Amino acid sequence: MKWVALVAGLAALAAFLYWQLIIAEGAYLGRRMVAFLYNRSARIYDGIKQYDPGYEQWFLGLPLSRAMQLHPDPLLLDVAAGTGRLARTLFQQPGFHGRMIMLDAARDMLREATRTTQPWAERLSYLWQNAAQLPFDDATFDVVSCLEALEFMPDPDAVLSELLRVLRPGGLLLTTNRIGKLARWLPGRTTTPEAFEEHLHSLGLEMVRTQTWQEDYDLIWAVKPGVMGPTPPRMLATILRCPRCHTAMQQQENDFVCENAHHAPIAADGIIELARA
Ligand SMILES: C[S@@+](CC[C@H](N)C(=O)[O-])C[C@H]1O[C@@H](n2cnc3c(N)ncnc32)[C@H](O)[C@@H]1O
Repeated sequence: MKWVALVAGLAALAAFLYWQLIIAEGAYLGRRMVAFLYNRSARIYDGIKQYDPGYEQWFLGLPLSRAMQLHPDPLLLDVAAGTGRLARTLFQQPGFHGRMIMLDAARDMLREATRTTQPWAERLSYLWQNAAQLPFDDATFDVVSCLEALEFMPDPDAVLSELLRVLRPGGLLLTTNRIGKLARWLPGRTTTPEAFEEHLHSLGLEMVRTQTWQEDYDLIWAVKPGVMGPTPPRMLATILRCPRCHTAMQQQENDFVCENAHHAPIAADGIIELARA
């Protein structure tokens, strides 16, 4: 009898761990656990995902590039950028002439991104930082994206508010909504397509469009209301804010430092380590 109870207990524990670590990818164990798991799989991540370049261009690169084609100096922020999937497809578009800042909480995912996006490195910046505190002023970016990531964050709504805060009026939000058979195993983090659209409308977004995309994700396009005024120059050194105290950061030789002397080193691989500030 004891053996039966022991085996049942072990099986329950294994099932629980499988749910928490494999299905939910650490989502209920805190953002450090999520980052830890992504760091561990960073090198094999693209191999597992097996993105089809044509599919990526059709659904992501081409429409984004077209949306930006009349913009004089497009600046995009990709939150939870991972290994650089969005940058890779966008920068391959001949019509795209903008810049992108990529931010992620898993440093090793970003390191992979620096490798896979190396041909366009001069137009890219890489920030190691948690999405819950975006280190920028309000209304900074023309496009803000966050693909396949909101459901892994402790407070997806708070991150969504951050994405909208740094988006310029008239700017484009590109995100995803988790669907598919595993979505029900992420209670409190996923919602129906209808409820997600309604939520975006309640945040004041316009032209909300849910596009069928992958088995596990719908692609969501939406526009922040307002008119995009003249575009100011926005070099990283002029727009970066300290994630701790939100004061301006000045670039020194090998780091960024804020008015309250919080330092964010620029590592040898080019990643700006705001998470250390
Ligand atoms: C499934 S991957 C998606 C990566 C990329 N957007 C893509 O579509 O390939 C999820 C990413 O979200 C990142 N992430 C999870 N929680 C985060 C947080 N709180 N702040 C920043 N990035 C986070 C992970 O490190 C990981 O790189």
